[in-house]
Amino acid sequence: MGAHCPQPRIYVALDSARQVRIQALLDQLDPSLCGIKIGKEAFTALGPAVVEMARQRGFPVFLDLKFHDIPNTVHQACRAAVDLDVSLINVHASGGRRMLAAAREAIAPAPGAPALIAVTVLTSMEDADLAEVGVTDGAAQQVARLAGLVAGEGLDGVVCSALEATEMRQVFPGRRGVIVTPGVRPAGSAPDDQRRVLTPAAAIQAGASSLVIGRPITGAQSPGDALREIVASL
Ligand code: C5P
Repeated sequence: MGAHCPQPRIYVALDSARQVRIQALLDQLDPSLCGIKIGKEAFTALGPAVVEMARQRGFPVFLDLKFHDIPNTVHQACRAAVDLDVSLINVHASGGRRMLAAAREAIAPAPGAPALIAVTVLTSMEDADLAEVGVTDGAAQQVARLAGLVAGEGLDGVVCSALEATEMRQVFPGRRGVIVTPGVRPAGSAPDDQRRVLTPAAAIQAGASSLVIGRPITGAQSPGDALREIVASL
């Protein structure tokens, strides 16, 4: 685990393909209180311009593209992501040891460098889904196995369910360990399609270093107020 740039407590997920919608949300959020997570939908529709929109306003950016390819391609993709001046980049741990090493090599640990983390098992996969793709050990064991591989290659942490945060914190201890958890809901807010949720404070308590929160903020009457209330709850 190397050095990396500081991470915001909250990354707001801007899951939209519409530039005007993203612009409006960015205008309502305070870059001193959160970063912005840009995923496949927004990036595919709008390209690097959407990252620049957030960076221009001073938001740290989590580029959530979950790279998973041959080592050389992932290396080059990570280099391109570094050039976008983002704070957090992720890859799929199931790409294997050489792919993880290639990503790490592309993003050398340094105090100003983006943090590099991995997805272990998608939380949408249950044991039966894993068995269908040949992983018969079950999700819990596969998460532990892949987290070990990720740590072994010197990556900074993982994206995981808040319910796995405590276990993942053991693998990536200390201030530099980056444990990023979605599936977070403030008390009383709608779970939407999330199944097992923790409150923001409980997720941090469990070991998360940054939370990914979308609809409770982006769907609120006032996204700025919703963000401030969540920050106050931590
Ligand atoms: O709106 P909501 O707070 O549920 O958004 C959560 C964000 O985190 C979405 O961008 C979703 O794709 C992402 N995510 C997730 N669960 C995972 C991995 C990513 O909800 N296991």
